[in-house]
Amino acid sequence: MSADPKNPASLEAYWMPFTANRQFKAKPRMVARASGMYYETPEGRKILDGTAGLWCVNAGHGRREITRAVADQLEVMDYAPAFQIGHPAAFELANTLVRIAPAGLDHVFFTNSGSESVDTALKIALAYHRARGDASRVRLLGRERGYHGVGFGGISVGGMVANRKAWPTAMIPGVDHLAHTHDIKRNAFTRGLPAHGVELADDLERLVALHDASTIAAVIVEPIAGSTGVVLPPRGYLKRLREICDKHGILLIFDEVITGFGRTGAAFAAQEFGVTPDMITCAKGLTNGAIPMGAVLASKKIYDAFMQGPPGAIELFHGYTYSAHPAACAAALATLDIYEREKLLTRAKEIGPAFEKAVHELRGMPHVIDIRSYGLVAGIELAPVAGSPGARAFPIYQQCFERGLLIRTTGDTIALSPALIIEPKHLDELFGVLGQTLRDNA
Ligand SMILES: Cc1ncc(COP(=O)(O)O)c(C=O)c1O
Repeated sequence: MSADPKNPASLEAYWMPFTANRQFKAKPRMVARASGMYYETPEGRKILDGTAGLWCVNAGHGRREITRAVADQLEVMDYAPAFQIGHPAAFELANTLVRIAPAGLDHVFFTNSGSESVDTALKIALAYHRARGDASRVRLLGRERGYHGVGFGGISVGGMVANRKAWPTAMIPGVDHLAHTHDIKRNAFTRGLPAHGVELADDLERLVALHDASTIAAVIVEPIAGSTGVVLPPRGYLKRLREICDKHGILLIFDEVITGFGRTGAAFAAQEFGVTPDMITCAKGLTNGAIPMGAVLASKKIYDAFMQGPPGAIELFHGYTYSAHPAACAAALATLDIYEREKLLTRAKEIGPAFEKAVHELRGMPHVIDIRSYGLVAGIELAPVAGSPGARAFPIYQQCFERGLLIRTTGDTIALSPALIIEPKHLDELFGVLGQTLRDNA
């Protein structure tokens, strides 16, 4: 049976992720084609993509170079075993990634998603300390309001209650959380990084005092927390986290699944904010969303710690059937080539000021209580309806879609993350529709 939006039975079998299934199936929102900055519905209605799909289509939709590279690769070789066998594109991609990564992050472990990248990085952190003979470092620290995907590792270090509450006994043990940095009282409507909150990094010292550094393996944070409503790091916060980690021998992991590949105006937020972690997790923009793929970038110090055992011994008992899948490698190489040729990794620096100006012009619109933006990502926080989280923002999401604009809402924050190819005319269209919809929901 093919999908027919007018026939609910035809939509029943597909259990949709992070979606209100019954609500959706009663009134579906479908897209069938995509090109450049736009989706198109099955009936041919154009929808401006204000979110680069799900923060991933950074070079815009329908890039022929990627399509061709994937098709060519599949013609030549569809699959190669990931374990004990190599293929050239995997090594070339790792080399290319290392070239654009922060200096010092010079090894790459491939995965198939952001969630897998996070769980991989956490496992590497634990195994790293063990390999160095420091096996008491077993604690992993995340942060409140963090999102690190949906694996058991990711939800354990994550800090979003809805993603955790159904699995309270399934969390990995020994995890604790830093305080979040969301502070509207002091930082509302600031442009660029918020001025207040560097001292929140000292919460790591509190956890060290509580647990002792000798038990802590790693801290994982998103440089900009995306899924919890675009929460920016206070000025100096990430640098201080780095200093405290160094002082106590704790690894620092940046989850750059959203901030990677040009979102902030540099290849990675680590470079934009001038702080180098020990590992970076990434996915999404790595292949422009065309083929699932993720990666963990790790320092030489970490890689070398594993390269100690007897020759012939597998150093890390971890990996996926589809790690460095040939089609994904081809997609990623073509994507990185586009980013480089079209200078997209720094494009957010050029268009960012116009984006920031336009988003801050929403200040004063009904229910808008904060606006946060950096590079080409923005959060517009709305005052919640008492006792009904999400009820303010979701109708705006629905109405925007009906009016030809795809935004994203998380709780009562509207999140925008357009493709890096966005032009001023798209900004006019995006903020025209969004502004009108906010006004209509006074
Ligand atoms: C920061 C962060 N980490 C991890 C993930 C999980 O990625 P995936 O959905 O590809 O598993 C996401 C997804 O949005 C993310 O934003």
